[in-house]
Amino acid sequence: MTIQWFPGHMTRARRQIEEKLKLIDIAIELLDARVPQASRNPMVDDILRGKPRLIVLNKSDLADPKATERWMAYFADQGHSCVAVDSSTGTRVGEIPEKAKALVSEKWERMIAKGINPRAVRALIVGIPNVGKSTLINRLAGRNIAATGDRPGVTKGQQWIKVGTEMELLDTPGILWPKFEDQLVGYKLAMTGAIKEQILNIEDIAFFAVKALVGRYWEVMKERFGLEGAPPADIDDADEIVRVMEEIGRKRGCLVSGARVDLEKTSGIILRELRAGKLGRITLEEPEPVSRNSGRADD
Ligand code: G4P
Repeated sequence: MTIQWFPGHMTRARRQIEEKLKLIDIAIELLDARVPQASRNPMVDDILRGKPRLIVLNKSDLADPKATERWMAYFADQGHSCVAVDSSTGTRVGEIPEKAKALVSEKWERMIAKGINPRAVRALIVGIPNVGKSTLINRLAGRNIAATGDRPGVTKGQQWIKVGTEMELLDTPGILWPKFEDQLVGYKLAMTGAIKEQILNIEDIAFFAVKALVGRYWEVMKERFGLEGAPPADIDDADEIVRVMEEIGRKRGCLVSGARVDLEKTSGIILRELRAGKLGRITLEEPEPVSRNSGRADD
């Protein structure tokens, strides 16, 4: 679902999260492991205001495992607790309650010292649309929680979901907005399918996808699409990127009259295969600015 985020929506979404923050001990910030930066709300530090936070890199089944390790190290360097999971199958989701508990251990020890029995850790999942909030809530709950009102402004009664004996989760997530000011963020989210492509030009999305892929996963591209030409000498040269797109189009028989390549059809194929994981596990951004042609999966 694509939400048009206007300033009023952002203010309302923020207010809704702030209300929920009063009820919880920790926040679980959910990011897409393929685009941890683009799927991050630009104001999240400010919004969560020092609440202990667990960063969960979701959809790690679709991301490059080596890049995920680099992102985990990056977040650890920033002092965040972090775990990479696949909510669709549940892989490593079981580590979340344990890590959540570790975040409140000092507070709990102080309570024990005062003779108070600590209760279950109360948590709220926050993240941008499509990052997998509902899937993770259902996975942690071990059952299907009613479809979440995934729109700012849609409210429903809040309930605590028990996750084992030591964690409780609010059943409605906190919905954040992505960083729209940076156009490339929009394209990255569209590449992963988080933003529906109707709002952006499909050929532009595929162009940026190919640009990101040739710089980082040339061998993967070559193999998947049977490319025979050399990699682009300069990935900032738009003609070179279009040349690669045209070669993909020819290999896949996307031709129109005059043997010209149908770039729209080619773009559809590239994006479908990228999103479905047909090119393998791909991460589209690195934690630090990387030099071109570095940061490959096999680095
Ligand atoms: P949201 O609440 O944050 O908006 O996201 P939601 O859980 O609805 O998930 C968005 C899409 O991402 C869903 O796919 C969901 O299945 C998929 N997804 C969530 N977590 C993971 C994960 O860890 N790995 C993978 N591969 N996919 C994940 P969909 O196509 O919109 O729906 P459906 O195909 O599940 O019906």
